[in-house]
Amino acid sequence: MTDTADSPAASPAPADRRLTVVVGICGGIAAYKAVSVVRELVLRGHDVHVVPTEAALRFVGAPTLEAISRNPVHTSVFDDVAQVRHVALGQQADLVVVAPATAHTLAKLAHGLSDDLLGTTVLASTAPLVVAPAMHTQMWQAASTVDNVALLRSRGVLVVGPDDGPLTGGDSGPGRLSEPDVIVDAALAAVAASPEEAPARDLAGRVVVVTAGGTREPIDPVRWIGNRSSGKQGLAIAQAATARGARVVFVAAHVDDDVAAAVRRLPGVEVRPAPTAADLDAVTTAAAETADVVVMAAAVADWAPASVSPSKLKKDDAGDRLALELVRTVDVLAGLVERRRPGQVVVGFAAETSTGRDDLLALGRRKLARKPADLLVLNQVGWTEGFGRDESVAVVLGRGGDVVGESSGTKSDTAHALLDAVVRLLG
Ligand code: CTP
Repeated sequence: MTDTADSPAASPAPADRRLTVVVGICGGIAAYKAVSVVRELVLRGHDVHVVPTEAALRFVGAPTLEAISRNPVHTSVFDDVAQVRHVALGQQADLVVVAPATAHTLAKLAHGLSDDLLGTTVLASTAPLVVAPAMHTQMWQAASTVDNVALLRSRGVLVVGPDDGPLTGGDSGPGRLSEPDVIVDAALAAVAASPEEAPARDLAGRVVVVTAGGTREPIDPVRWIGNRSSGKQGLAIAQAATARGARVVFVAAHVDDDVAAAVRRLPGVEVRPAPTAADLDAVTTAAAETADVVVMAAAVADWAPASVSPSKLKKDDAGDRLALELVRTVDVLAGLVERRRPGQVVVGFAAETSTGRDDLLALGRRKLARKPADLLVLNQVGWTEGFGRDESVAVVLGRGGDVVGESSGTKSDTAHALLDAVVRLLG
């Protein structure tokens, strides 16, 4: 059984300079949480200008926002006319965050309506725009909101949340404002340390499915056959893809705790658990139906116990030896390649314990002949290389077996080398 190599990924670098941040606040109950967003940004050393809508001020008072942001608060385009405030703020901003973003404001932003200071500020800004929606589930799922959010995403707007959980009305579902620190982390990650370092938003509007971690095939209720995959390479791909503007579906087999925590904090990422090879097949196949790109970074077990004992196997019953019969699992990648839609890019991984580059390339080409993925990422693994480590050496092969990318460095470098090749194929 061969595992796919995983190792840690660096988070997109948060800006370490003092940023001018505009925080737009809309009129919803969650506006009280926006105070914490503002405070967190100020505590992290940024110059924060709050632009509440008129409705937001019915939930949180201007004095609170002024005290917390340490800057005056304006709502009207007719305030401070001599300073042309309605465009000046937007032009100065390095980052615009709208939290909470109501269905009404999402609609306005999607269609460029600018009948208040927040609308004009957003239109006048070329800075990254991050919106954190909060509303009732029905409003979030309404066709108009879904379309407006899709339109904003297609323009590279980063949508953080909403979370699923208890709502103000006592009901529960998707619509809760994300936690303030999650919004702030995501917003700052959207601004690279310098414009030259900012990744291209070349996956804006794309849906990327990334499988990660190692599957666990149960033997009995307390034991399984698993592998050493940590999920770190998958995390690195999810981080790189979101930084480049994609929406990511993260299909998680077993991943390390720090990977699970990091992926939950990533904006624009939906996590779908898939503990076994059969689960991973079902979940990934369903997600692939609407995906532009599918990356099979998971270490899927090649064999699983032929039968699962319903109760714990006892030593006394088994004696000194226990023979387990294993059967081949479904090959998820092969199925994805077979069902690939026109224009869809399917990426496989191959972790090999080869002795040298030529050997590695030959193994990769043989694998491609068996499962003709659009791209195959080759990693060297062994007892010490690959799994759970920060660095990796990777070669990316195209469908014909030609080398179309290489990286030597962090798992994040591998992820970007792979996504560069994906973007070239997507055209
Ligand atoms: N894969 C899969 N389903 C499986 C096994 C592997 O989708 N049941 C995927 C992995 O996610 C990875 C690629 O296939 O993207 C690895 O290819 P595979 O031929 O299974 O590699 P090895 O397990 O390394 O195969 P071999 O034992 O032939 O080296």
